[in-house]
Amino acid sequence: LIAGAMAFAPVTAMAADLTIGFSQIGSESGWRAAETTVTKQEAEKRGIDLKFADAQQKQENQIKALRSFIAQGVDAILLAPVVATGWDDVLEEAKDAEIPVVLLDRTVDAPEDLYLTAVTSDLVHEGRVAGQWLVDDAAGEKCDIVELQGTTGSSPAIDRKTGFEEAIAGHDNLEIVRSQTGDFTRSQGKVVMESFLKAVGGENICALYAHNDDMAVGAIQAIKEAGLKPGEDIKIVSIDSVPDIHLAMANGEANATIELTPNMAGPALDALETYFADGTVPPKWIQTESKLYTLEDDNMAVYEMKKDLGY
Ligand code: AHR
Repeated sequence: LIAGAMAFAPVTAMAADLTIGFSQIGSESGWRAAETTVTKQEAEKRGIDLKFADAQQKQENQIKALRSFIAQGVDAILLAPVVATGWDDVLEEAKDAEIPVVLLDRTVDAPEDLYLTAVTSDLVHEGRVAGQWLVDDAAGEKCDIVELQGTTGSSPAIDRKTGFEEAIAGHDNLEIVRSQTGDFTRSQGKVVMESFLKAVGGENICALYAHNDDMAVGAIQAIKEAGLKPGEDIKIVSIDSVPDIHLAMANGEANATIELTPNMAGPALDALETYFADGTVPPKWIQTESKLYTLEDDNMAVYEMKKDLGY
């Protein structure tokens, strides 16, 4: 075992010998589908045997998948945790079995010694960038905001809300007048935006903050059906940078997005390969970048480029 490190697997396996279980949340968004594609590609490229389990948005399915991976004696586990809490027991079981767990794209509320590392963006920062974009765009004018939250209890929903609220705090012209979950899906984004438009009146909504692009794309449809111009009558800022939001931005129907790379697996598998090769313990957090795109970017070019990236 690695001196001074976690009591995980003995460091002997070569990359091509590795068997890794991947518990994926589901396929709620374009970004999620891309992450799945990229993870499979990254494993194949390295000759890793990847065992894939789709949890269909249910934590209980993820816990079952983890227990199955443990029973099969995989070398390591990749976990994209649907919600933040409720992981301690199964992570303890993985640790007892000396199987390192790497978190992908979302964090958990569990002791840090229960996982090897987490590959995620700074989720609070993403919310702050979105909020700051709106602060700048509103330029002191009164602006009532509606918010589409991600999956309730998930770390991106919690952190992106926190960051956004931090950024608009102290700007009395900005107020969140409605906030509800759209579960990170296009269909719920549309349904919830329809209810916002009905409750508040489209002419009273200045901006939409959506915790992901898919919900924003659904909301764009609802705004159009209400006879309003998304991107003009209602400004839209969201997160992920999926191809469809860039197409919407190229058409002037959305205003800003913050990029989340779907390639969480590259850094995760690099860390695991090094760990198994020479025992190097990675930092607890491997942070991916967050880049803001606005209408000043060539969004049609970004759309074309992104379409080839597994989305
Ligand atoms: O955890 C990352 C988030 O999950 C993405 O922003 C969203 O699209 C996905 O469903």
